[in-house]
Amino acid sequence: MANPSLLILAGDGIGPEVMDEVKRIIGWFGDKRDLTFDVSEDLVGGAAYDAHGVPLHDDTMAKAQEVDAVLLGAVGGPKYDDLDFSVKPERGLLRLRKEMDLFANLRPAQCFDALADFSSLKKELIAGLDIMIVRELTSGVYFGEPRGIHIEDNMRVGINTQRYTEAEIERVARAAFELAKKRGNKVCSMEKANVMESGILWRDVVNEVHQAEYADVELSHMYADNGAMQLVRAPKQFDVILTDNLFGDILSDCAAMLTGSLGMLPSASLGLPMANGRPKAMYEPVHGSAPDIAGQGKANPIACILSFAMALRYSFDEGAEADRLEAAIEKVLADGARTADLMGPEGGTAFGTTEMGDAILAALDASL
Ligand code: IPM
Ligand code: MG
Repeated sequence: MANPSLLILAGDGIGPEVMDEVKRIIGWFGDKRDLTFDVSEDLVGGAAYDAHGVPLHDDTMAKAQEVDAVLLGAVGGPKYDDLDFSVKPERGLLRLRKEMDLFANLRPAQCFDALADFSSLKKELIAGLDIMIVRELTSGVYFGEPRGIHIEDNMRVGINTQRYTEAEIERVARAAFELAKKRGNKVCSMEKANVMESGILWRDVVNEVHQAEYADVELSHMYADNGAMQLVRAPKQFDVILTDNLFGDILSDCAAMLTGSLGMLPSASLGLPMANGRPKAMYEPVHGSAPDIAGQGKANPIACILSFAMALRYSFDEGAEADRLEAAIEKVLADGARTADLMGPEGGTAFGTTEMGDAILAALDASL
């Protein structure tokens, strides 16, 4: 059988630095676990714009459609702030999500024991935290038409449209219920049904899917503003949170920060099964390109490495190897390894990006 294929799109800012560590981890699994991937690399975001004048070349898009999984670093940076909207780095990322139809975005917020002190919340509120946010990723206000900036009565008017079809809500709801069954068996769905018709439909359809197929899963509903408040008040009440594209963007940053650093949080974006049975998939850290620290070798590679662990689990059915990688990370953190984003007020010497990669590789060796 051919090796599974990966397309690496490291992107901008700290993307390439953290992805270098992921490449070493991928190499380790080839050498030590007989799990060899065919890896190719290409450009996305500002890097693609610099080379091609577009944030994602058509050839790259075509490659992304062919591989078993895409690993993405980060896109964007101040250098590209003044570009026309249509060629901004973020458009490359959104095109990948849309054209690969990656409708289910899984964003776990898990608190590593060793980092419980880093949260801005009290330790007892977040110790043992394990939430999964399922964010709809290919529709809603990010993509709805009409959109744009128009002139009406001599005045500029900015328009975006929140639009969801039943089918779009159904499929992401199923993804959330399926995940809940493998975890705490609880789904909390968040929208604004008090002010938005799309929210009313969202709630109705989630209820219908629940009744018809997942009545054994515990389901609750919350207005998204209350959800945000509950996330910082008592985050451990949640298991799976199901929400739309825009609320999911916001709530997932909030949930991520509960764990102490955005540098720790991975994500998986999954679509429909391909001919080989694997889902269309892209894996990326939740953090952005962090231009303020780019190129300095001090970025935390853990979110990107954990994203590869998600790839092992969700694309390649290698749950045990994903566990091994996550345990290695847990171990180095427990041993006190810290990148700059994880330094507490007591200070100490921070690991650079490569040193953190070294430590994780050593912990992987020790796991054999
Ligand atoms: C995210 C990011 C993206 C989004 C940006 C970079 C387009 O914030 O993945 O959460 O808004 O979806
Ligand atoms: Mg975001």
